[in-house]
Amino acid sequence: MSARILEGKVFAQQFKEDAGRRAAILREKHGVTPGLAVIIVGSNPASQVYVRNKHKSCEELGIYSEVIELPEETTKGELIAKIDELNLNKRIHGILVQLPLPQQIADCEAEILNRIDPAKDVDGFHPVNVGRLVTGEPGLVPCTPAGCIRMLELADIPMDGKKAVIIGRSNIVGKPMLHLLLARNATVTICHSHTQDLAAVTKEADILVAAIGKPKFVTADMVKPGATIIDVGINRIAPKKLVGDVDFEAVKEVAGAITPVPGGVGLLTVAMLMQNVVKAAELQVGK
Ligand code: GUN
Repeated sequence: MSARILEGKVFAQQFKEDAGRRAAILREKHGVTPGLAVIIVGSNPASQVYVRNKHKSCEELGIYSEVIELPEETTKGELIAKIDELNLNKRIHGILVQLPLPQQIADCEAEILNRIDPAKDVDGFHPVNVGRLVTGEPGLVPCTPAGCIRMLELADIPMDGKKAVIIGRSNIVGKPMLHLLLARNATVTICHSHTQDLAAVTKEADILVAAIGKPKFVTADMVKPGATIIDVGINRIAPKKLVGDVDFEAVKEVAGAITPVPGGVGLLTVAMLMQNVVKAAELQVGK
């Protein structure tokens, strides 16, 4: 039997409705319009599309949005000065520096991101927010893993006591996902390029998260029958052809539930960013 398809748009719509409702409460009860500033340095075409989508989502939901476009040759000092200015700007509750940064400042990525006020860090990348996630204190959580967990909750897929396996140990997806699943009482294993006999580990998973960045890396023989498969990969294999990290056509015949690519997790990220902007504004006004 073919798996249940977890359509990103269904869940993204729910996240956005919730963010829009809470933004309206902030405006009407507190006189505060939540505001997001996105900084984009240079002209990476994929980044330009992502930034445009973020701006459009803000407009739909009544969130104030500023896109700050800086030239390719921007220095670390100039970028930090812009962040400092936004940290003090009362209209702005969330700041996001679009990644990747151009080559000449890519080495300073951590120093640049750490300059963002943790209260405005809607990417959840600042060490203060990472620490809060690890210790279980309330804070801002990276959008993609937070969106995946919220989707599992809305889809009534149990996590408590289940075996979850994550492939990929990035700071953006793999590591935060580990802590979010652990906080929901899953037994979590994180695999990476040095893991031995990967298929033996993944075959145990009730929930399998693929975040490796390799097209169709997860094949049907690596999946436990009935498992829930979350595919975080977005790989362009031809000018107009995107595929995930999972061999969708084959794996959907074995899995119990699966996210497609495109049309899956990618749609959750922007919707969850809207929630993070509203959450940051709520915390800043003391609601
Ligand atoms: N580029 C790709 N994904 C992301 C993300 O989640 N946040 C930021 N800031 N840049 C990205």
